Amino acid sequence: MSDVAVIGAGYVGITTAACLAHLGHSVVAGDIDSARVDALNRGEIPIHEDGLSELVAEGLESGRLRFVLGASAAVADAEFIFLCVPTPQGDDGSADLSFIDAVVLEIAGSLRSGSVVINKSTVPVGTTRRVQRLLGEAGGSIDEIGVASNPEFLREGTSVRDFLHASRVVVGCDNSATAVRVSELYAGVHAPIVVTDPASAEMIKYASNAFLATKISFMNAIANLCEALDADVSEVALGMGYDTRIGFEFLQPGPGYGGSCFPKDTSALMHAAHAAGAEFPLLQGVIDGNVAQHERMIDKAKRLVGGDLRGVEVAILGLAFKANTDDVRDSPAVYVARRLSEEGATLRAYDPKAAANSVLIDSMTRVDSVTEAAKGASLMVVLTEWDEFRWLNFDEIGEALEKRIVLDTRNILDPVALRRRGWIYEGVGR
Ligand SMILES: NC(=O)c1ccc[n+]([C@@H]2O[C@H](COP(=O)([O-])OP(=O)(O)OC[C@H]3O[C@@H](n4cnc5c(N)ncnc54)[C@H](O)[C@@H]3O)[C@@H](O)[C@H]2O)c1
Repeated sequence: MSDVAVIGAGYVGITTAACLAHLGHSVVAGDIDSARVDALNRGEIPIHEDGLSELVAEGLESGRLRFVLGASAAVADAEFIFLCVPTPQGDDGSADLSFIDAVVLEIAGSLRSGSVVINKSTVPVGTTRRVQRLLGEAGGSIDEIGVASNPEFLREGTSVRDFLHASRVVVGCDNSATAVRVSELYAGVHAPIVVTDPASAEMIKYASNAFLATKISFMNAIANLCEALDADVSEVALGMGYDTRIGFEFLQPGPGYGGSCFPKDTSALMHAAHAAGAEFPLLQGVIDGNVAQHERMIDKAKRLVGGDLRGVEVAILGLAFKANTDDVRDSPAVYVARRLSEEGATLRAYDPKAAANSVLIDSMTRVDSVTEAAKGASLMVVLTEWDEFRWLNFDEIGEALEKRIVLDTRNILDPVALRRRGWIYEGVGR
């Protein structure tokens, strides 16, 4: 078992640290946020992830997991150092690597000989080599320190399961002995291991996310066609999904993709394509189609209230970018809520997990239940596919509403049952 450092205790970092500790490694996770570090050492998890608090508690209790302030404090004894810091979208659409650079410069002088710096953050092709160069420039001995790419594929909401039962582990490294050492960290995971060069590993991550985004935008385009041609996209998705070359996942239409990964990663790949002098019109179409899909939800809302949203009270159900997470970064739900507000609507929003002050929108009040959100509203908009929204007492909610009109941007409600109860129902593509 190895000594591991994890730099950045966010969605990816906490999951990586807790899961590697669970697999038997000794893990020190460093973050710059002292309140977060203190909370984690008390076993309090700042994010909502199934099973994560149990794993952190197990790690703390066994002594195999601890959290420290700062990157340097974490790396002192480490043989493997995972970089799990943000790589947000820069002003020009490219990936902003300043967090990676800052960490590398900070830890360069503290690394022990024989250690391996592993990029788990999503980074553009060429970043592993950039890390190696920076380590050298900052005084690290690059002959004695290995560098590898090990992109992460976990999904928020199921991060622990995705890590421990990974579909695959990708290790990109120029040195095969180092690649084997990194792969061995995952011995308990029982996943196929793809060992490749760093550039291909980095591209695997971007290509995977761009492909998934494409699948979503494609299905949204089909849904829009279904509306025009009077077909039902749910039936279409069912009929398509049985084809194993297509599969059922990511065939649900909706308000467009969002979250902390797809928007920035598609943008970064587009930027990389331009920089390389390559055209990628397909991906540009996916990105443009996604924004258009967000806007279609506003058009639908307007139509449902007679064309003008000014002064209309709207109940918002869901702010998280998808169900089972508290994450609102680049959430399509937030985009739609903000645009409804800009169009003059007054909003009361309920989300079971999104942090109370995480979304600030003019004319939007956060409330603690669907019924409270519905009180006096003339339109209810379902924006996140939380399970609890599927099983509402629609008679009670209908009583609270001024008008029984629902825009179900996630297609999670039953249109037939609602219409039978006198509701006006509008979904996506059906
Ligand atoms: N969230 C996901 O679902 C997901 C999935 C796969 C890959 N990724 C990628 O993983 C990376 C991290 O994403 P995330 O969602 O975990 O981010 P996050 O924002 O949740 O967490 C990042 C953490 O890094 C810390 N940090 C920043 N600078 C630091 C420094 N100098 N030293 C120590 N800590 C520092 C921050 O305080 C924060 O706690 C990104 O590149 C992202 O694209 C994310």
